[in-house]
Amino acid sequence: MLKLVEPCKEYLPAVVNFLPETENDNAKEYMVNSVKNLLKYIPQNFDEYLQLLYNEKNSIGLKEGYVAQTTFWLVDDDRFVGTFALRHNLAPSLLQRGGHIAYYIRPSERQKGYAFKGLKLCLEEAKKLGIEKALITCNDKNIASYKTMHKMMIEMGGNEVAPTQIGDITERRVWIYTDKRHNGKMRVLAIAVIKKDNKVLAIKGYDEKKDEYFYRLPGGGIEFGEKAEQTLHREFMEELGLKIIIKKQLGVSENIFEFNGKKGHEIVIAFEATLEEEQMQKQQFPMLEQEFEGKYAEFVEITPDKHIYPTGIL
Ligand SMILES: CC(C)(COP(=O)(O)OP(=O)(O)OC[C@H]1O[C@@H](n2cnc3c(N)ncnc32)[C@H](O)[C@@H]1OP(=O)(O)O)[C@@H](O)C(=O)NCCC(=O)NCCS
Repeated sequence: MLKLVEPCKEYLPAVVNFLPETENDNAKEYMVNSVKNLLKYIPQNFDEYLQLLYNEKNSIGLKEGYVAQTTFWLVDDDRFVGTFALRHNLAPSLLQRGGHIAYYIRPSERQKGYAFKGLKLCLEEAKKLGIEKALITCNDKNIASYKTMHKMMIEMGGNEVAPTQIGDITERRVWIYTDKRHNGKMRVLAIAVIKKDNKVLAIKGYDEKKDEYFYRLPGGGIEFGEKAEQTLHREFMEELGLKIIIKKQLGVSENIFEFNGKKGHEIVIAFEATLEEEQMQKQQFPMLEQEFEGKYAEFVEITPDKHIYPTGIL
């Protein structure tokens, strides 16, 4: 039976048996850290390896900018098939490159569907950690990896966002729901209406299916136990690195719409808000987390020809 296990003595002989295969790996340039660790510690320093994994999982002695992660071995009966590393959340660098999950399938077991099946199991583990949507990234030249994540996005639901450019590497990025039911789940959002003259702060997006550019007012999903105003403070910090000053609640709107051919249903709590005086002088703010096409939040003129969502709020 195929399963993900946390590294343990039982499968150590199977891992030792696999290690020589890495020498002739034709995808060496995409070697992930979880395999580099195997090569570094196994077989001589297995206890040290387990200690490292324990520390990583429990955030003990993490390097600056690193987040907790769990390492799994993918095994099929008593055979070692590959590794999966699951980050418990996203550091800014992982948003650009790395994402929540990194995977590796041993060369002799490739092209048999193991990456896809293993990724599905790993998404279940991500769901157990409370991750609703997992980010997976890969070098745009890594066709096998891109096919795996894209196919999973179609299977589970999700969306591809703009690639990032890191030096001469183009990194493709796909968000995937960890539970199919989330794809089609009603969302409750808090959004901010920040006006300046006849302009409003919004993020530009593009709907491939409708071939239409649109603007989305900034904000995000309210998490369980979080007040709508707290959501706005958090989202503005996470997405834009900005402090928001909330003035008053404007009202609630319900939207049923289609984005990229998929139906969406949102309940939106809108707030009138502003930014610190010095920020209000600016025209554009770079997005730290990119959604849709949006690289910037910007003050856009409110004109009838523009699609500014959620509709009705303005
Ligand atoms: C990427 C990797 C995990 C894919 O593993 P795999 O078990 O061979 O993948 P699967 O068998 O599940 O196949 C998934 C899809 O990729 C395709 N694929 C697999 N290898 C391929 C290759 N060399 N060229 C083109 N497509 C390939 C499969 O055909 C399948 O797509 P399909 O269903 O449309 O036919 C594996 O090649 C690997 O470990 N590479 C080195 C490490 C790595 O790149 N990790 C990802 C870092 S982002």
